[in-house]
Amino acid sequence: MSIIQEISQQIFWVGGNDRRLERFENMFPIPNGVSYNSYLIIDEKTALIDTVDSSISEIFLENVKDGLAGRNLDYLIINHMEPDHCANLEAIIHRYPEVKVIGNAKTFQFFEQYYSTDISANRVEVKEGQELSLGKHTLRFYTAPMVHWPEVMMTYEVSEGILFASDAFGSFWALSGNLFFDEIDHKEIFMEEARRYYANIVGRYGMQVQAVLKKLTGLEINMICALHGLIWRKEDIPYIVEKYDLWSKYTPEKKGVVLFYASMYGNTEHVVQNLANKLAKRGVRDMRMYDVSKTHPSYVISDAWKYSHMVAASPTYNMSLYFMMDSLLKEMSVLGLKNRKVSLIGNHTWASAALKEMQQIIGEMKNMEIIGTPLDVRSTLKPEREAELDAIADAIAASLLEQ
Ligand code: FEO
Repeated sequence: MSIIQEISQQIFWVGGNDRRLERFENMFPIPNGVSYNSYLIIDEKTALIDTVDSSISEIFLENVKDGLAGRNLDYLIINHMEPDHCANLEAIIHRYPEVKVIGNAKTFQFFEQYYSTDISANRVEVKEGQELSLGKHTLRFYTAPMVHWPEVMMTYEVSEGILFASDAFGSFWALSGNLFFDEIDHKEIFMEEARRYYANIVGRYGMQVQAVLKKLTGLEINMICALHGLIWRKEDIPYIVEKYDLWSKYTPEKKGVVLFYASMYGNTEHVVQNLANKLAKRGVRDMRMYDVSKTHPSYVISDAWKYSHMVAASPTYNMSLYFMMDSLLKEMSVLGLKNRKVSLIGNHTWASAALKEMQQIIGEMKNMEIIGTPLDVRSTLKPEREAELDAIADAIAASLLEQ
């Protein structure tokens, strides 16, 4: 039995949810699950916008069948060729062999790389700004290269001003019956997941997101339908667009500090706890602290996107940077995080490498300002070195106040 919902006149959500998957892309924990959104337009012609992941094929195919209510499927729009949305392309084409498959040149290149079905008779290649009339509804296609794959398109439904935005404006989040952001009260939890999704999945491509935001300026948008998570209606669109603008410009959402440490026996952790205590006494609020061996990097990265200041602390391990910290900082670097104030603390017992390696990774990132003199502890923080930690606390507090 199908589970579908009309989101606008004759436009239906026909996606589904997965709460069983442990890690999205086999990498990111999703304790709140994930939705794969797909949309069906019923008009003189019928059109399906994207498909879903293989984990929910059964319900999805049922949804499409019931949504069509005996009609044929005329168009299949492929906004994004990543397998979490394309796993059912062949199933749809086999069920509706007359369907016209809409994509761009890159879409069809990727289709051939992933699948073996011959769609030469089905494919319709579209270009930037091209329109497709379904009757009352008209679809216009905008390319959105590298948000976050090269073939990505966004489809704009002209008569109602609905943007089918591909992965942009999406979130880790399984839907609980309510499809719209304005239907939930737990917005803060959702936004944490929206930011974590953005930073980790799209974060590297801020420039390309900016280009798309510019391209869409002036377009009347009454609804944004992403491929994951909740749908945005008109009154909330300025809110999420502003967040996207900040995130894609690598501008912190708020003044504050995220502290993250690696610690084998608690000594490096103790230094960071001590620093946080000193910061609290200096009036710093809303600090977040993470043990990088315990917390998945995607959460730390999400907070690094949110806050203006970071503190990283790590011991030396095998004459190198402790691996979890090394991995986290390199991930931040690959994602292109920039414009942050960073304080660094190393720890070593007989030979120092961690601090030097952290300085090197941070030094290669853009516009990362070191706040305070980096502290290299020997095994434990001794009282005679507390003044150095005080100086870092002073520098961070002063930097936060001056912004
Ligand atoms: Fe949700 Fe880029 O796939």
